[in-house]
Amino acid sequence: MTAINIALDGPAAAGKSTIAKRVASKLGMIYVDTGAMYRAITFYYLNQKQNFTNFKDLISQINLKLGYDEKKGQRVFINDSDVTDFLRENDVTEHVSYVASIEEVRSFLLDAQKQLAKEKGIVMDGRDIGTTVLPDAEVKVYMIASVEERAQRRLKDNELRGIESTLEQLKQDISKRDEYDMNREISPLKKAQDAIEIDTTGLSIDDVTEKIIDLTKPYC
Ligand code: C5P
Repeated sequence: MTAINIALDGPAAAGKSTIAKRVASKLGMIYVDTGAMYRAITFYYLNQKQNFTNFKDLISQINLKLGYDEKKGQRVFINDSDVTDFLRENDVTEHVSYVASIEEVRSFLLDAQKQLAKEKGIVMDGRDIGTTVLPDAEVKVYMIASVEERAQRRLKDNELRGIESTLEQLKQDISKRDEYDMNREISPLKKAQDAIEIDTTGLSIDDVTEKIIDLTKPYC
């Protein structure tokens, strides 16, 4: 059962990647984390600021590839260098929404993401997957959760990754990023008309995974 695509969108830290990974593994599909692609470009932007004059120039310097590691999952390579371990750093998180609002960045990644999903069998998560990247995806889900719960989850996540943060700071970061992502001009974060909304507040990872797998049943 891989001949469909699943689009999973929603605000920051709604648990999309955890669920998308789980759904992909249960259904034998490939998980694509598009946030990591925006983060990789942001990482490159922060490190190469002095070497480009505009974003067209920056994008022309980038060869972005995704790889898969059995244990570590999706890896992101920029010009053959694996940048995945840097993508959750605070500096990247602080600047990613700005970089993701730039037209040249979005059209570059839109092409790459459409290409990845061409053959189907993809679970892709992000902000504009159901609306813009895969408007024809067979299953579209829009995941939400309260800011409090999302910040709590991200705090635990950061602790595991050894990244310093506090609950208050995370709440502010999440709200600020959502505000920016929902109000940008190109492909803002919003629920696709035909997406099913799942409020994950108080639900377990298994509950949400099962709900999404149920939505794929008509295609099995
Ligand atoms: O999902 P994650 O939190 O890693 O995404 C980081 C940022 O990348 C988002 O806050 C958003 O600005 C941007 N993004 C986007 N479109 C996507 C995925 C992520 O604009 N499809």
